[in-house]
Amino acid sequence: MERIKIKDDLELSRIIHGYWRLMDWNLNSNEILNLIEETYDLGVTTVDHADIYGNFCCEEKFGEALKLKKGLREKLQIVTKCGIKFPSENRPENKSHCYDTSKEHIIKSAERSLKNFNTDYLDVLLIHRVDALLNPEEVAEAFSKLKKDGKVRYFGVSNFLPSQFNMLNSYLEEELVTNQIEISPLCLNSFEDGTLDLMLQKRVKPMAWSPLAGGRIFSGEEEKALRVKEVLNKIKDEVGAEDIDEVAYAWLLMHPSKIMPIVGSGKIDRIKSAVRATDILLTRDQWFEIYVASRGVDIP
Ligand SMILES: NC(=O)c1ccc[n+]([C@@H]2O[C@H](COP(=O)([O-])OP(=O)(O)OC[C@H]3O[C@@H](n4cnc5c(N)ncnc54)[C@H](OP(=O)(O)O)[C@@H]3O)[C@@H](O)[C@H]2O)c1
Repeated sequence: MERIKIKDDLELSRIIHGYWRLMDWNLNSNEILNLIEETYDLGVTTVDHADIYGNFCCEEKFGEALKLKKGLREKLQIVTKCGIKFPSENRPENKSHCYDTSKEHIIKSAERSLKNFNTDYLDVLLIHRVDALLNPEEVAEAFSKLKKDGKVRYFGVSNFLPSQFNMLNSYLEEELVTNQIEISPLCLNSFEDGTLDLMLQKRVKPMAWSPLAGGRIFSGEEEKALRVKEVLNKIKDEVGAEDIDEVAYAWLLMHPSKIMPIVGSGKIDRIKSAVRATDILLTRDQWFEIYVASRGVDIP
């Protein structure tokens, strides 16, 4: 499995495993441990979380599994997020659905994540979404404190537009290491709004969330999904892939910004498909066939 160098002392696996849906997988701690180990054996060593996933329960559930195997945490790179609040029985202090990137909240959230994961450091902490009230000086102070205290190694963002990414970066002691954005054959925004251009310009590697459009490349009924599925199926046969998810991953992997797809399934066979895709090289014609099928109109 290819490793992506993020910093001199931080490498992530090209394919990342996402735990947003963990609570739907109905796994006990031993089963989660098995999944982590099987995934690790495929070379997928980086995991993606957020404080809010599973109604604020996923991090802790994952942490319980980590506790079962001494030394496992150090073999993984844990990415998690903060900055979204919503009312929940698991967070009685949250009054409403809002974003909070205050210094106090970022630090509190990161410290709670550490406790949930049973670890004393996070590899990467992301601001989950752009907060209209984001005060970059406060964010910079929170990041510096967490870094100085050894609690977080590196910082990034998610769902930031280029201007927002640059704005926050300009306040930080150390630059953001990634932007986690939605990219899939059904979501082309980042190719067109300058987000991937900025990643290339700054040599920052993006992460792709919902790389299979949350499963809609298989099940979507809308015209766009049907068009894309037809082309993915055609190319699947041309490249000898087992299913269209492999083609979708290969399409993301071909972009020069070195997109890191985050696999959202808890089924090991589906994670294996993503890993197999790292060996598929699409032609430029095939790449554009998928792109045009998604656009619905030919390129100019
Ligand atoms: N930063 C953000 O704002 C943000 C937002 C959303 C997600 N994320 C991250 O991105 C990760 C991935 O997102 P995602 O879960 O939406 O990714 P995804 O891989 O696009 O979608 C996963 C869904 O696709 C289904 N699927 C996969 N293979 C399939 C197949 N062969 N046939 C039918 N259905 C199939 C899965 O079902 P099964 O479970 O049955 O396999 C699952 O429901 C999340 O875990 C999270 O870490 C980040």
